[in-house]
Amino acid sequence: MAGSKAIEFILNDKTVSETLPPGMVVLDYLRRHRRMTGTKEGCREGDCGACMVLLGRIEEGRLRYRAVNSCLLPLAELDGRHLVTIEGLNGDSLNPIQQAFFDENASQCGFCTPGMIVSLTGFYLNSDTFTSQQAVAALDGNICRCTGYTSIKRAAGLLAKQADNNLAESDVPRRIQLLVEQKILPSWFLTIFDRLSELQKPLEKERSTTSLLVAGGTDLFVQKPEALLDADFQLLTRDKNLAEIKVEGDLCRIGAAVTVEQLQSSPLVNDMLPDLRDDLRLVSSTPIRSRATVGGNIVNASPIGDLTIWFLALDAAVALNDGVNRRIVALKDFFLDYKKLDKKDDELLEWVQFAIFQKGSRFNFEKVSKRTHLDIASVNSAMLLRRDGDVIVDAGISAGGVAPIPLTLSKTVDFLRGEKLSAQTVKKAAHIAQSEISPISDVRGSAQYKRLLLRQLIFAHFDVLFREYSKEALL
Ligand SMILES: Cc1cc2nc3c(=O)[nH]c(=O)nc-3n(C[C@H](O)[C@H](O)[C@H](O)COP(=O)(O)OP(=O)(O)OC[C@H]3O[C@@H](n4cnc5c(N)ncnc54)[C@H](O)[C@@H]3O)c2cc1C
Ligand code: FES
Ligand code: FES
Repeated sequence: MAGSKAIEFILNDKTVSETLPPGMVVLDYLRRHRRMTGTKEGCREGDCGACMVLLGRIEEGRLRYRAVNSCLLPLAELDGRHLVTIEGLNGDSLNPIQQAFFDENASQCGFCTPGMIVSLTGFYLNSDTFTSQQAVAALDGNICRCTGYTSIKRAAGLLAKQADNNLAESDVPRRIQLLVEQKILPSWFLTIFDRLSELQKPLEKERSTTSLLVAGGTDLFVQKPEALLDADFQLLTRDKNLAEIKVEGDLCRIGAAVTVEQLQSSPLVNDMLPDLRDDLRLVSSTPIRSRATVGGNIVNASPIGDLTIWFLALDAAVALNDGVNRRIVALKDFFLDYKKLDKKDDELLEWVQFAIFQKGSRFNFEKVSKRTHLDIASVNSAMLLRRDGDVIVDAGISAGGVAPIPLTLSKTVDFLRGEKLSAQTVKKAAHIAQSEISPISDVRGSAQYKRLLLRQLIFAHFDVLFREYSKEALL
């Protein structure tokens, strides 16, 4: 992607063409090159939401907007897209979202306010229900350092209450029309679909084996933004083949560029994993989930990657392609040592697949972190158990934060197969799990604490999965 190819997009209501470095983050582009300083710079790590913008694109014939962190968004991602900043949402007078913040005293120094207004605009554009809980959830990627959240929650609650009853049932064009009528969006939003359709570029299909692969960029742009500025990189989000979720025979295959948000809304995956939506709410925040991909989560090789822990318990396998050959590797064998993978530099992770659940299978995910939301795990764990009556027929258990790599608890699994469900079995499983791990003390807790956490998480799995058994019988 390096070079001087122009990046063409719509910035608020203007079509623009830029030949700046494709790896420059949109936050810097806005503030330094356009002098649009309404988008604020806070952490530059996706944590605070001060830099929030809306990114619009046409997907399957529909215009779709997402609130995203501009500090982690490369300029190249704007090609053929619509970028909306707080300046674009400002009118001659306060719009209803801004008015609610004013009425409820939800802005003190005001530094976080533009980001919050953008996130709540995203809420109006996307939400399928308009409860105050949902409005507050839309702010899960925004931090305020001085007002305190009570007034912000009041403003969000007021906005949920004020939402037009017809919004939830409206398709995108109608919804945009309603939001324009209510002065939440400026009227030029009505022109964007046609203008973006004219801008649409052919997808980049050619794959170069020497380019750095960038998926959502939520890890890369935190780790090495300077190195990416002029790097030759390839945007995986542009490849539709990598963004599919499908069933092939008795296997479910998830493309590497599928985002956490896509997983959350996939009927296919939700059918298998009914608690999925709630589990995934514990993964980062709304804006990060809309960019973070499955492949990025696996390849960044964090010992506490939430999706990786999931897929390990499902005994998943990954497909690696060097442009000529494809090979399949069991995920449990993919992690060799801390951040060391069974993967060559030129290999692309194409997809991850796992067996569709058989009758009697149940899955549970547990995560302990310092904060419930927008925090990585101290320890996380997933468990898949299949039973026939009282007997455990098959199992998969994984744990993160207890070893240099995301771990499959193979000895615990071997023990559980064929065992009868009982308090004795659960205690012995927790004991064996303890013998498989090697946690270290760090900022997320002491080694001893993490050991204890894992034991509790094993108990929690059984507690959640077998609620029909009394606690006394199992724990
Ligand atoms: C604020 C914040 C909160 C977060 N919270 C969580 C959390 O709660 N839980 C969690 O698990 N993670 C969390 N993360 C980490 C990160 O968002 C996830 O790991 C995410 O899934 C990474 O995916 P990505 O697409 O953004 O990866 P990228 O940053 O695009 O890539 C990560 C690495 O993988 C490589 N790569 C990506 N895709 C492929 C592919 N298909 N083939 C080969 N190589 C590839 C890239 O070259 C790079 O080395 C958080 C990050 C931030 C910034
Ligand atoms: S500057 Fe904090 S999330 Fe972007
Ligand atoms: S009002 Fe000051 S940071 Fe939120």
